[in-house]
Amino acid sequence: MSDRKRVTIARRLLPAGYELLEERFDTVSGGLDSSRDDVLRLAEGADAIVADPTVTVDEELIRAAGERLRIVANFAVGFDNVDLEACGAAGVTVTNTPDVLTNATAELAAALTLAAARDIGGAERRMRAGEWKGWDPSDFLGFELSGATIGVVGMGRIGQRYAELMRGFDAEFLYVSREPKEVTEVKLGARRVELEVLLAESDVVSLHLPTRPETRHLIDAAALARMKDTAIIVNTGRGTLIDSEALADALENGTIGAAGLDVYENEPEVPKRLLEAPRTALTPHIGSATTRARDEMARLVAANVIAVLDGDEPVTPVLA
Ligand code: GLV
Repeated sequence: MSDRKRVTIARRLLPAGYELLEERFDTVSGGLDSSRDDVLRLAEGADAIVADPTVTVDEELIRAAGERLRIVANFAVGFDNVDLEACGAAGVTVTNTPDVLTNATAELAAALTLAAARDIGGAERRMRAGEWKGWDPSDFLGFELSGATIGVVGMGRIGQRYAELMRGFDAEFLYVSREPKEVTEVKLGARRVELEVLLAESDVVSLHLPTRPETRHLIDAAALARMKDTAIIVNTGRGTLIDSEALADALENGTIGAAGLDVYENEPEVPKRLLEAPRTALTPHIGSATTRARDEMARLVAANVIAVLDGDEPVTPVLA
């Protein structure tokens, strides 16, 4: 048996990172279709586990890995799939992939904002179905973003980049954040307000905060009712931030204007009502899906694993 350390990749790590790991460690990958049982089996004896948002890292998995386990490297900036308490109790370091996906995710949020504002998805679907009857002065009337008030919920790295990108629309910015962000206030003239105020005054509400028990269904029926009936909601964070049934109600009843969504409560399931809702642009959790971001994420995963297995500090620790 090899005396090289063992790295278990629960599903798939892109070559940009995989090749760095393969050179130094015994690596095994579950593949995109790996079941929970496969992951538990492959984890046995691992010094490192590479997870992603679809892989639940809990006490059972840590126990399955056994005593050698030093690090869980998550191939994502979000880490709601990882039980930090269980990792902490077992002395296992947890890392994520911040920064390298900031632009990609903010750009997708901007794209979804525009797609929702102009119902690009609905217009394209109708045209592809052969139902376009020619130029119509009253068809597909969208919402113009120039001069709009844009509400950013969660002014971290991605929220700030999104606001910078949207600045070109001469927008006014409101934001909700646990801490005031002075640079953003100076640069963008953004005003920090309570969520209730942001919801009531914004033409666009874009969610950029992590999911925690207290942010689950942050946007529920009551929050949606506070929004303008022309307002656009955009979610590139996590699906659980929004109560999907309440959102489907609001879209169907026209009590909000439109939605642009990249994440869903029970992925890969997407509620039928959202698939069929009017003025709704949907993408399948592709926030960080640019070649540049995903390669950088894979390299960062590898750098974290190598650092920890070499006895060095992790590069981007969530829990060290
Ligand atoms: C993807 O969802 C991420 O958190 O990076």
